Amino acid sequence: MDQTKLDQIRESNNIVDIIGGYIPLKKSGSNYKAPCPFHDEKTPSFMVSEKKQIYKCFGCGKSGNVFTFVRDYEKVSFFEAAKILAQRVGIEIESSKKNPEKQSQRELILNVYALATNFFKKNFNKFGDEAKSYLSERNISQETIDKYDIGYALDSYSGLKNFLLKNHIDKNILKQSGLFGLSENGAYDIFRNRIMFPIHSSNGRVIAFGGRVLSNQQPGGKYINSPTTEIYEKGRELYGLFRTRYEIAKKNSIIICEGYMDFLRLNENGFTNCVAALGTALTNSQIILASRYSKNFILLYDGDKAGIKAAIKAAGNIIQSGFVPKIVRLPISEDPDSFLLKNDDKALKNLIDSAESLSKYLYNEQELGLSERNKLDIIIDILNNTDDRLNCELFAKEIGEQFKVSANALLSKIIVKTKAIKKVNSITLDLFEEEKEILKFMLQNEFNFEKICQEINQDYFLSKIYKEIFITILDNVDYLSNPSILLEKISEENVRNILAEIILQESSVVEIKNFLDQIKLRKIQRDLKMLNDRILISPNELSLFEEKIKLKKIIRELSNKVVRKTLF
Ligand code: CTP
Ligand code: MN
Repeated sequence: MDQTKLDQIRESNNIVDIIGGYIPLKKSGSNYKAPCPFHDEKTPSFMVSEKKQIYKCFGCGKSGNVFTFVRDYEKVSFFEAAKILAQRVGIEIESSKKNPEKQSQRELILNVYALATNFFKKNFNKFGDEAKSYLSERNISQETIDKYDIGYALDSYSGLKNFLLKNHIDKNILKQSGLFGLSENGAYDIFRNRIMFPIHSSNGRVIAFGGRVLSNQQPGGKYINSPTTEIYEKGRELYGLFRTRYEIAKKNSIIICEGYMDFLRLNENGFTNCVAALGTALTNSQIILASRYSKNFILLYDGDKAGIKAAIKAAGNIIQSGFVPKIVRLPISEDPDSFLLKNDDKALKNLIDSAESLSKYLYNEQELGLSERNKLDIIIDILNNTDDRLNCELFAKEIGEQFKVSANALLSKIIVKTKAIKKVNSITLDLFEEEKEILKFMLQNEFNFEKICQEINQDYFLSKIYKEIFITILDNVDYLSNPSILLEKISEENVRNILAEIILQESSVVEIKNFLDQIKLRKIQRDLKMLNDRILISPNELSLFEEKIKLKKIIRELSNKVVRKTLF
């Protein structure tokens, strides 16, 4: 997408409307405020400036413009975010030219999945009597079938293949779709005589399928799933999220179950804030994806041993990602589906309300025949893989209380690999206060900008970050009055967040001279140091001494001014 197009999209989408469409904004002075949607907080420190068309959270530091907000809130790429915003205001865009081959390949495969979904749905209605009665025996309503695009794959080795070939789909794309196997007679349908559950990405496009047999006598696994393809990676998606994400956000809790049928049953019974992990161990990317909508995880796994083990594993992964999960205990022979068929909603609601933290759940756990030592080993293993020290300590404290052991003893058993927090040390930056003031000043208007450019250049900046911001401003003078574009020009998040802060803090400086004197003084002191080094190497060069005398004189003048200013 070219810059003019991006400018057009940005200018047509007022940031207050966009962000206000996702979270409630409150007017506060000339700006708007809200609790930050990117981190947990009670007092709002997330600020939106209509005038500058940017947002900034003074709690977690996140900042940006309309594009980055939609990108980060919707969890899409920058390009997708631009597309969403363009669509919103009716601006037409052509698809990316950056990597046209890859882009169009993805599109072609997505198209195959869209065609296949319709084909399976049509077959369900036309030839799917057996599938229909199977689902109706399992109490799945037509409404749910429609809502989740459930279909039926014919009992044929070439049904889907022929349909797609008739629709002029390229043989190469068929191969890459993951929907076909290869024998000496060519490609054949993998999904045969199965109920088809499409897996949607969170923006609602079908990217994979799960297919279930209609009876236990049928050959092949109970479920078959699409393999990894250009558009699908197992363990990155959550089944049903595309439909339930707003419910999850609204109720601010997310129920995670294991299977397709559990998910559909929960939905039928009004537990609409759920997703299914689909039998894989819950991965970090699934947890991060889910946490966009709610950080209150409730694990509702099968009651059998496999389910208990999977729930403990999932809870450990959630803790390692920095959240605190709860685990629901189902009767040993039930899964959410079977439980809800035998009991009413209220019974499940009660179980969910009494869900336990991992430490309590493990403490009470008896089905797996674990000794207390075994349980503590599981916990130490989780702690060992938790990067965040604070998280570790909180969890250790809770475990300590539950198991009546010392939290410190637990902590001493673990080797914490505290990740370096990738945050700019604000103390270091405070040393360069005058550089910041100068940046603030020059961002006010073109007059100030000119004034600064006449006095100094980038060599005057000692702080790498402020220097980068200075250079960015110089390179984008045209956008001086449109700071939300300036933000876009900086790719590194740390630096961008600091620029946002500078943009939002109006400069109260009328007289910039003192700051300029300070920054000049420091520059000349540095020059002098370098000059001294050169004199050491060539002590006979007279011009160097003359230069030194000149520099010293300037330093004296400048320090007089600077010191006087700071003293009085
Ligand atoms: N699964 C799978 N392949 C299998 C078995 C299971 O991919 N051979 C996945 C499916 O996503 C399934 C989930 O793991 O939904 C949970 O498995 P299981 O409890 O065995 O299935 P149920 O969800 O109970 O399915 P059903 O009620 O239809 O038997
Ligand atoms: Mn199950």
